[in-house]
Amino acid sequence: MNNDETIKKIHQQLHTQNIKGFLAPTEAEALFHLAYTSAALGPCLEIGSYCGKSTVYIGSACKLTENILFAVDHHRGSEEHQLGEEYHDPDLYNVQLNAMDTFPTLRHTLNQFDLEDCVVPLVAPSQIVVKKWATPLGFVFIDGGHSEAQATIDCLSWASQLNPGGILAIHDIFDDPARGGQGPFRALQSVLSTGKFNWISQVESLGILQCCAD
Ligand SMILES: C[S@@+](CC[C@H](N)C(=O)[O-])C[C@H]1O[C@@H](n2cnc3c(N)ncnc32)[C@H](O)[C@@H]1O
Repeated sequence: MNNDETIKKIHQQLHTQNIKGFLAPTEAEALFHLAYTSAALGPCLEIGSYCGKSTVYIGSACKLTENILFAVDHHRGSEEHQLGEEYHDPDLYNVQLNAMDTFPTLRHTLNQFDLEDCVVPLVAPSQIVVKKWATPLGFVFIDGGHSEAQATIDCLSWASQLNPGGILAIHDIFDDPARGGQGPFRALQSVLSTGKFNWISQVESLGILQCCAD
């Protein structure tokens, strides 16, 4: 099966199994290709797995390249997922805990897509995980908290973990405030202003940067 056939199969399986998430098909395809082509540069890492939509595309590329995806999420949901907020999903709310809990769904997704041997879920806030991180990465996908403060912390702290030539992809980039929140867009500008990254391209709302060579 070639990569296009693999991506088509994932699209179909996600649709059939009704995996919840926030990712356009073209963005998902771009994530797959970026993870696939950067595999020689180091492991992949994503911030914000939710129910595993982005995770299955990056994870499937890792499986094919014998790479690993570290999937970071505290699984308590972002601000917009909380009770009473715009993107709250009652199916993902744990009444006993009185909190969102998407981790059981992510585990189910990984099992369904046979990705338990190449995706390592890290259930913690990204700012805690990065404190002791010591493995240079080949590809980082940022889709966690979307406030300017959180997105900027995530982008700057994880961008610095990439190997030269490594790829940083940031979701929900909208240069026009009428189309979406500005947190990730401003975070991307902060990364570019370090002078250590080049702008590569944008696929729908997915902004793609590359770490400059040493
Ligand atoms: C927009 S959703 C991710 C969507 C997912 N990438 C997809 O393809 O469907 C954002 C996720 O980020 C997580 N999140 C928010 N802030 C976080 C933080 N500081 N550390 C870790 N995860 C965080 C939330 O729990 C939520 O699951």
